[in-house]
Amino acid sequence: MSAQPKIKVAILISGGGSNMLKLLDSMGADHPAEACLVMSNKENAGGLVKAAERGIATDFVDHKPFGEDRAAFEDALIAKLDAAGAEVVCLAGFMRVLTPHFINRFEGRMLNVHPSLLPKYKGLHTHKRAIEAGDSEAGCTVHVATAKLDDGPIIAQASVPILEGDTPDTLAARVLIEEHRIYPEALLSFTRDLQGKTPS
Ligand code: GAR
Repeated sequence: MSAQPKIKVAILISGGGSNMLKLLDSMGADHPAEACLVMSNKENAGGLVKAAERGIATDFVDHKPFGEDRAAFEDALIAKLDAAGAEVVCLAGFMRVLTPHFINRFEGRMLNVHPSLLPKYKGLHTHKRAIEAGDSEAGCTVHVATAKLDDGPIIAQASVPILEGDTPDTLAARVLIEEHRIYPEALLSFTRDLQGKTPS
């Protein structure tokens, strides 16, 4: 019986890409998936350099020239993802809202990490909102991305305490440690399940 080909994963980032690096580091020889592309909407995203240093193909599509034409921006992303053969897309701090036009194209094959205990605090400023609400805990969620923002089936979640004197930054740092742990775990279980569904 021949070994199944690895599932090709593209990772979309907008910034430093610390989650992206954890995903790359997790995809070792025994992993069902391999990275085929790291892509950003910003040419100068710090994570692109770090991915390239690891020998991963990188690219970007600047969203600004597309203005309000989100479909055209997303078509440009899709063209690059298709050229790289991406089968699974991981959003890892990709700070552009994607429309159903893009999301439906990768329906059931796109993951997102969000810095809150979904369904609480969809959208931005999650840590500030959790502190201001007087919550005793915060956290992060990895979920399958669907056409609704920060929605879709949850694969993994982790919580951390909110401590006296926490600022959004100190809380974000505590949550990020958990993101780095659960996102690779979620990608592994997700791609194992996907491989199990693919005829060999
Ligand atoms: C992470 O905390 C991620 O959960 C968040 O951006 C950060 C990216 O950090 N994503 C969102 O807020 C998406 N709505 P990273 O670039 O170091 O991985």
